[in-house]
Amino acid sequence: MTPHTPSTGRPANPLGLVHRPRRLRRSPAMRRLVVETRVHAHNLVQPLFVREGISAPQQVNSMPGVVQHTRDSLRKAAHEAAAAGVGGLMLFGIPEEKDALGTGALDPDGILQQAVRDVVSEVGDALVVMTDVNLDEYTDHGHSGVLDASGDVDNDASLVKFGEMAVVQAQAGSQLVAPSGMMDGQIGYMRSALDAAGFPHIPIMGYSAKYASSFYGPFREAVNSSLKGNRKTYQQNPGNARESLHEVALDAAEGADMVMVKPITTYLDVVSAITELVNVPVAAYHVSGEYAMVEAAAARGWIDRESAVVETLTSIRRAGASIILTYWATEFATKLPA
Ligand code: PBG
Repeated sequence: MTPHTPSTGRPANPLGLVHRPRRLRRSPAMRRLVVETRVHAHNLVQPLFVREGISAPQQVNSMPGVVQHTRDSLRKAAHEAAAAGVGGLMLFGIPEEKDALGTGALDPDGILQQAVRDVVSEVGDALVVMTDVNLDEYTDHGHSGVLDASGDVDNDASLVKFGEMAVVQAQAGSQLVAPSGMMDGQIGYMRSALDAAGFPHIPIMGYSAKYASSFYGPFREAVNSSLKGNRKTYQQNPGNARESLHEVALDAAEGADMVMVKPITTYLDVVSAITELVNVPVAAYHVSGEYAMVEAAAARGWIDRESAVVETLTSIRRAGASIILTYWATEFATKLPA
């Protein structure tokens, strides 16, 4: 091909390029036309914390913009989320009293159950009200389950608690229960507990591929939990991806209606692999430490907050997650690119 030489003397296409991907990036309209991935508010889930015994919302220092709610302020936050078009809420309760067995988790009038009743009666038709099934907010040792004599988390004893918790939450009106304890068999056990209690229609979202991660740090402050030891005997090793496929396949076989990966920005490969493996919706939890990193850098002016948030959410969606749990849900529901 002979490049055409215009009158200026400069060859128009000296390399004879046929393919110029920049053609489709020239204008905002062109870029909008060819976009592959959009994040929609309806696919976002806002995690919210409600704490027993406080009279005003308490700021979580390591999560700027996130608070521990009173029952009243939680209601307000739920309305704001619904008005913004957010798809769901994930509720966490913080009881005044914690003990070794996480007894408060099973109290039908415990703070989480009260909050579920409040929120479901007000916005339960506008979005999906979900609850986390795990003992860590309720135990004084901060582990996800009950401990055996050696101090390790007792899998099967914890399952019994998870089953009871799921039923108590469903009785309070929870519209989806999400076990995050990484106990073997938790999906199947909870499914039969819910079915036996008359809740066959309540879906279960497994926190299926949950890593033993340093990015849960700020969550400990958010739920007033001091973890003794670590969680490596039940949460996954960050070096393993095939193990996630195994966990997800087991959860799907046990009847999980949705599966989740957590944290997410350092595990996008895992989400992507999981979408190839199962056909149930795949969710991703952008966790407290991931949130804190962006907020901290943005507060120092080191990154542009809004574009960093949109880029983060878009990338999670691009990797294959259809549902994203994010502390930015309500705020960004109305700030996402059309
Ligand atoms: C368990 C639970 C945790 C998170 C969600 N569900 C804490 C944990 O497993 O350590 C973490 C979420 C976050 O860090 O934002 N209740």
